[in-house]
Formats: sequence, structure tokens, C-alpha cells
Amino acid sequence: MELNFLAISRRAVYTLLLLFIVLTVSGEFRSDAQAVIPTDELETLQRIFTKLGIRQWNVNQNSCRTGQGFNIATPGSSSDASSNVTCDCTFNTSTICHVTNIRLKSLSLEGELPVDLANLTYLREMSLLGNLINGTIPREIGSIATLEELVLQDNNLGGPLPPELGNLRRLRKALLGGNNFTGVLPKTFGGLTNLTDFRIDGSGITGRIPDFIGNWTRLERLDMQGTNMEGPIPSNISLLRNLTELRISDLNVSSMNFPDLRELTKLKELVLRSCSITGPIPPYIGERMRNIKKLDLSFNRLTGVIPESLDSLTTLQFMYLTNNTLTGQISRWLMETRYNFDISYNNFNGTSEPSCRAYKLNAISSFPAQPANSVNWCLKKNLPCPGKSKYYNLFVDCGGPGLSFEGERYEPDSDGMGPSSFVFTDKWACSTTGDYLGNEKATLREQTSTNNSAENLYSTARIAPFSLKYYGRCLRQGSYNVKLHFAEIRFARDQRNNTLGRRIFDIYIQGERIWKDFNIAEEAGGVGKSIIKEYNASVTGSTLEIHLYWAGKGTIAVPQRGIYGPLISAISVKPNFDTSTGLSAGSIAGIVVGSFVAVLLVLVVLWKLGYLGGKDLEDKELRGLELQTGYFTLRQIKAATGNFDPANKIGEGGFGPVYKGVLSDGSVIAVKQLSSKSKQGNP
Ligand SMILES: *[C@@H]1O[C@H](CO)[C@@H](O)[C@H](O)[C@H]1NC(C)=O
Ligand SMILES: *[C@@H]1O[C@H](CO)[C@@H](O)[C@H](O)[C@H]1NC(C)=O
Ligand SMILES: *[C@@H]1O[C@H](CO)[C@@H](O)[C@H](O)[C@H]1NC(C)=O
Ligand SMILES: *[C@@H]1O[C@H](CO)[C@@H](O)[C@H](O)[C@H]1NC(C)=O
Ligand SMILES: *[C@@H]1O[C@H](CO)[C@@H](O)[C@H](O)[C@H]1NC(C)=O
Ligand SMILES: *[C@@H]1O[C@H](CO)[C@@H](O)[C@H](O)[C@H]1NC(C)=O
Ligand SMILES: *[C@@H]1O[C@H](CO)[C@@H](O)[C@H](O)[C@H]1NC(C)=O
Ligand SMILES: *[C@@H]1O[C@H](CO)[C@@H](O)[C@H](O)[C@H]1NC(C)=O
Ligand SMILES: *[C@@H]1O[C@H](CO)[C@@H](O)[C@H](O)[C@H]1NC(C)=O
Ligand SMILES: *[C@@H]1O[C@H](CO)[C@@H](O)[C@H](O)[C@H]1NC(C)=O
Ligand SMILES: *[C@@H]1O[C@H](CO)[C@@H](O)[C@H](O)[C@H]1NC(C)=O
Ligand SMILES: *[C@@H]1O[C@H](CO)[C@@H](O)[C@H](O)[C@H]1NC(C)=O
Repeated sequence: MELNFLAISRRAVYTLLLLFIVLTVSGEFRSDAQAVIPTDELETLQRIFTKLGIRQWNVNQNSCRTGQGFNIATPGSSSDASSNVTCDCTFNTSTICHVTNIRLKSLSLEGELPVDLANLTYLREMSLLGNLINGTIPREIGSIATLEELVLQDNNLGGPLPPELGNLRRLRKALLGGNNFTGVLPKTFGGLTNLTDFRIDGSGITGRIPDFIGNWTRLERLDMQGTNMEGPIPSNISLLRNLTELRISDLNVSSMNFPDLRELTKLKELVLRSCSITGPIPPYIGERMRNIKKLDLSFNRLTGVIPESLDSLTTLQFMYLTNNTLTGQISRWLMETRYNFDISYNNFNGTSEPSCRAYKLNAISSFPAQPANSVNWCLKKNLPCPGKSKYYNLFVDCGGPGLSFEGERYEPDSDGMGPSSFVFTDKWACSTTGDYLGNEKATLREQTSTNNSAENLYSTARIAPFSLKYYGRCLRQGSYNVKLHFAEIRFARDQRNNTLGRRIFDIYIQGERIWKDFNIAEEAGGVGKSIIKEYNASVTGSTLEIHLYWAGKGTIAVPQRGIYGPLISAISVKPNFDTSTGLSAGSIAGIVVGSFVAVLLVLVVLWKLGYLGGKDLEDKELRGLELQTGYFTLRQIKAATGNFDPANKIGEGGFGPVYKGVLSDGSVIAVKQLSSKSKQGNP
């Protein structure tokens, strides 16, 4: 009996095998030919897509195999928009498919995150980068035990992060930045020991940076720019020895020491900006972090000298140390051609050879060892006027070729600029700091793509990654009406007129924060619409400083990487006083007598300046800024630049090389040698 059965079954096996071979050869039975999505999973997917408003999708049981129904481009979305859903079809001897990866990028998806996602129990990757998802993260997401990547960066999510997310033990990537989350990081996150990439930048997360980050020993990237979190940075950060990128900025803390990063020798990018760090820059950065490429310690209260050890780093490409209280001599290695270093706004003792070079050394405050005259204006704090403060207005077409608008001539500001640039005329100066995360090579001016010839104030703009300063120079003392013109020209609208992306920055005038969390599109009522912010500022020295600063808020990756930070279209500065007298309208009434004295004074000034003779002509021709009328003669320029000596070349502007020149009074000018190809500029 038993033998018989075996014989029969053996025959049956042979028959089945033969059938299988025949079917395989005829193509009917390839391994995944019949693999389908189970009905309940299919229904789940359909519910998810309906809730997210993806109506074009038409998923069926074969979608995993054919790709049809999943990966349909949504019309009208930005070019970066994409969808990519993939499955694993090897289940139950390759008869069952389960969805493992969902990537829906920049598709203007709206509505809340569907709870149904939790029913996709094979999901490894869920990425909804750059959409308009709102509401809170449902706690059920924490039950997708298979999840390895959770990307919700740059959406409109809010509320607290559910503690249940701490159950995602396999989670490697948690990209949650660019949302509006509130509350603290849940304690349960200490269990996410498999994390390699954690980003919470630009969100409203509060509380101290938790000690449990020390548990994330596999971490390679930590982004915490522009949260509402408090310092100090916990000492446990020293345990994250695999970190290659660490970014923390704008921490809420009155003062803290430099965190112990001695063992973080793999760091390539280190950003600790505006964290109230005191004390010296640790020399071990140069000694141990041999791969460091980017070092941003700007807007802190660092003291001491720049460690010489940084000099030996051949990898260092970007260094921002602006606005600290560093001292000492500026060593030669810093003076040499490192265009991406910004060490302005410190207390350096000066250099043997102070000059307004292309990399910024401006506003170095004290030069006790040197006679005041030998120090250029651009190296002095507050950029004092080297000559007479004679201007009483200013109009700049930021990022543009210059134009006339409402009866005023707006000056061109069309230099490409870079991560650490300082350009100036005798009337104004502009300074940019930073490089875009994920887009280091971006130029720092923007033009609406539709038209090449800019015909209005808002069709061009100056942009900067995190710090953009404009200075009105040589302004007469008094009160001024400052108008800042803005229009969002980098973001687009989608087919439903949604703005994808939020640009948020702060505006300081004369060192005082006037507007916090300024959002152009929101204030103007949409993308491409203009808004003017107006403020009365007083100039007590000779300089007006307008500082636009990105405090890490808003989105950073939509519609493309590296679209964030300050943007401005134009600046207009008009006096609130009568320019013929330099007094406000009110005080003019009081002056009846004394005009004779005033005339005498004017004569004395003119005589002193040489207008009334007494100084030789040659000297007069080369005297300097206070006498020039807007144009330099070629002779002046040649003399000042050493006949366009390449040694004096500062950089390459939008329309030709830029030379540094020194006039006879020691004032420094930037001279652009216009290339004949150029259509821009003043020939
Ligand atoms: C879709 O994602 C898979 C991995 O999940 C990847 O291999 C594939 O190249 C992606 N396809 C496209 C078109 O991006
Ligand atoms: C696939 O196999 C598992 C057990 O391995 C079983 O529980 C499940 O019901 C099967 N699914 C289908 C759709 O047959
Ligand atoms: C989804 O999951 C919930 C609980 O997690 C369960 O009650 C529900 O039946 C599931 N739905 C489907 C379609 O599997
Ligand atoms: C989410 O957005 C939709 C429309 O896009 C809106 O109807 C809904 O009220 C929003 N939900 C929340 C919680 O803001
Ligand atoms: C962490 O990741 C490794 C591989 O990257 C994996 O083998 C391990 O199972 C994961 N840990 C947990 C708790 O899932
Ligand atoms: C963020 O949340 C706060 C409070 O919950 C709210 O006042 C604010 O409007 C939200 N911002 C955005 C951009 O949604
Ligand atoms: C750190 O991880 C271990 C397991 O790897 C866990 O037992 C511990 O509770 C975690 N610490 C915190 C603060 O969550
Ligand atoms: C982190 O710091 C806390 C307190 O300083 C300590 O108790 C804990 O053991 C440290 N290590 C980890 C991995 O959290
Ligand atoms: C750190 O990285 C190295 C090399 O990539 C790896 O071998 C090691 O396991 C990592 N350490 C941790 C704690 O994950
Ligand atoms: C500045 O330079 C002078 C003379 O070179 C020196 O005596 C002084 O100590 C320096 N100050 C600092 C803070 O380096
Ligand atoms: C989008 O805005 C344009 C002009 O601003 C308007 O003509 C159009 O009707 C709007 N579309 C929708 C769907 O609101
Ligand atoms: C330097 O930073 C401090 C605060 O970080 C700020 O108050 C000050 O205005 C900044 N100075 C300049 C010149 O930006």
C-alpha cells in the first residue's frame, strides 16, 4: 500500500515537473508572472491614494508587476515631481507582492497622512518629500515595524511627534525638517538606535537637546538648524563618532562652551551657527578632523585666535567665522586666495598688509599698533566713510542691472557674488555669506526666467544662503525712510495655486531685529506678488546697515534643493530731513539767524577740500572719493589699480574682472574692467 502510494506520487511529481517546464518555456509561468497584490492591501492602497488626492492612479492587482497604475506623472507639477512605488514579489513562492517603497515627491499632495498607511505592514520606505500634507503624524505609523526610512521633510505637518515612532527599531532615516512640529522630542526616540540620518531642522520642536542622542551611535548626519530647542548641546554628542555632518543653529541658550567633538574625526561638515558659544575654537578641529570641508561657527561669541592647525587642512573649502570676538593677527594663510572664508566682524589685530580683498576681512575693529590712516575703511567696524559723508539717499536694484523706477535711478547690483563676497561702490556695499546646502555652486542672484531684459524692480533679486547685508555708505547723519522691496520669484505655484515651500528669514536694520520670521509670499499674498516693508532708521555715524538673516526656518529642499534664505528685490533709502540743511523740517523753522555763519562754514570746507585753490591740481585729480563725480578717468583708474595689475584683481564679476584700487588718499575702490562681450554695465 505504502509503496504503491509512493509510486503514484512519484509519477505525479514527474508529471507536475514536466508541466512546470512546459509552462515556463511557453512563458506562462515565469517566477513572478502571477504575483499579485492581495485584495486587502489593494484596498488599503486605493484608500491611501484617494485620501492623498491622487486621483490619476488606478492601482490593480498587477500594478507591482506592470508598474501601471502607480507611477503616473501628475500634470502641472514641478519638474522634480515624481512617484515611484515598488514592491517585493517574492512572498508565498513568488505569488504575492507587497508594497515596500512609496516615494511621492513634490506632487502637491494635500490632506492628512492616512492612518491606513499602518496597514502596509511590509513597508520599508515612506517618502513624501515636498508636499502639502497637513495635520499631525498618526501614532499608528509607529506600528510599521518594517519601516527603515520615514521622509516627511518640507510639508505642512504640525503638532507633537507621536512617542510611538520610537517603536520603529529598524528606522535608519528620519527626515522630518521643514514642518511645523511642536513639543519636545519624545523620550522613546532614545530607542531608535539604528538611525543614521536624523533631521528636524526648521521645525518648532522645543526643549533641551536630549541626552539620549548619545544612543544614536550609528548616526552619520544630524540636522537641527533653526528649531526652537534649547542648549547646551549635551556632552553625549561626543559618542556619535560616525557623524560626518552635524548642523545645529540658532539655539536658545544664553551661553555655552564648545561641545566636545574631539572624537568626531569623520566630520566633513560642521555647522554650529548662532549658538552663543563662548571660549576658543578647539585646535583639534584642524588636528583630528582631517576630512573637514565646511566649518561654520559664525554668529557666536568665540574668543582667542584662529588655530594655526586649520591651516594644514587641505580639505577645508568653506569657513565662516563672521561675527565672533576672535583676536590676534590674521595669518598669511588666511590672507591667501581662499575665497570662501568669511572672517569679518571680529576683533582681529589686523594684518601686516590690510586691504579690502575679495574674501572678507571687513570690519576688523581695532588696530592699536597702526596709524589710523593706514587701515582701509572696509576693515573698520561699521565701515566708516573714508571721506566726507555727503550722501542722503540710496537706491539699489538688488541682483539687477539697474533701472529707473518711480522717478528714481536704482543702481545696478549684478555681480554674481559667492559664499563670501563683498562688493562695494563709494555709496553702498553688499556682503553675502554662506553656501546652499546641497547646491554649493549656486550664484547669488536671481532673475525671473520668463524675460531676459529685466523691466521692473521685482524681476531680479539678490539672494544669499544665510546672511545678506547691505550698507549705505557715507550717509549724512539723520533719520531715513528705508523701503525694502520684496517679491517671491523663486517659488512657483502649482496647478491649484499652492506655494510649495516656505522662505522665512529675519530682518535687522542698524543691528536691531525689526521683523522676525518674515515670509515674502505669505505677506504679499502669493508668489510673484510684491510687498514693501518700510522703516525709519537713524544714521548716527555714516553707515546704514540692513541685515537679512536666515535663522534656519522654513523649507530647504523644495522645489529644488537650496532654495531658502534671504531674498530682496530692491532697496530705497530717502532722507526724513531737508537735504539742503541737513535738518528735519521741524527744526528748520527755528533757524532764522546764523545763516551767515553757515555760509562761512561752507566756504571754509570748500577751501579745505581744495575747491578754492591752495592745493596742486595733480593731487586734486587723484585725491579720492569725495571729489569724484561718479566716473573715474582712465588715468585715475590705471594709477589706482597699478595699470590693471593682476595682483590687484579681486574677482570676476558678472561683466568682467574686478580690480582693487587705492586712491591717493588711501581709499580703496573696486574697479571693474568691462569685457567687450558684456552688454551690462557702464562702458
Ligand atoms: C524606484 O525605486 C527603486 C528602489 O526602490 C529604484 O531601484 C528605481 O530606480 C526607482 N525608479 C525610478 C524611476 O526612480
Ligand atoms: C502567504 O503565506 C502566509 C504564510 O506563509 C499565509 O499566512 C498567507 O495567508 C499567504 N497569503 C496568501 C495571500 O496566500
Ligand atoms: C488596518 O489595520 C487595523 C488595525 O491596525 C485593522 O483594524 C484593520 O482591519 C486593517 N484594515 C485592513 C484593510 O487590513
Ligand atoms: C488640511 O488641508 C485640507 C485642504 O488642503 C483642509 O481641508 C484641512 O482642514 C486641513 N487640515 C488641517 C488639520 O489643517
Ligand atoms: C539595524 O540595522 C541592521 C542592518 O543595518 C539590521 O541588521 C538590524 O536588524 C537593525 N536593527 C533592528 C533593531 O532592526
Ligand atoms: C505653526 O504652528 C503654530 C502653532 O501651532 C501656528 O501658530 C502657526 O501658524 C503654524 N505655522 C504654519 C506655517 O503652519
Ligand atoms: C538606549 O538604547 C538601549 C538599547 O540599545 C536601550 O536599552 C536604552 O533604553 C536606550 N536609552 C534610552 C534613553 O532610550
Ligand atoms: C548620556 O548622558 C546621560 C546623562 O549625562 C547618561 O546618563 C547616559 O548614560 C549617556 N549615554 C547615553 C548613551 O545616553
Ligand atoms: C561606524 O562606521 C563604520 C564604517 O562605516 C562601521 O563599521 C561601524 O559599525 C559604525 N559604527 C557604528 C556604531 O555604527
Ligand atoms: C594686538 O597686537 C598688539 C601688538 O602687535 C599686541 O601687543 C596685543 O597683544 C595684540 N592683542 C591681541 C588681543 O592679540
Ligand atoms: C490661480 O491663480 C490664477 C491667477 O492668479 C487664477 O487665474 C486661477 O484661476 C487660479 N487657479 C485656481 C485653481 O484657483
Ligand atoms: C552679531 O551677532 C549678534 C548676536 O548673535 C548680534 O546681536 C549682532 O547684531 C551681530 N552683529 C552683526 C554686525 O551682525
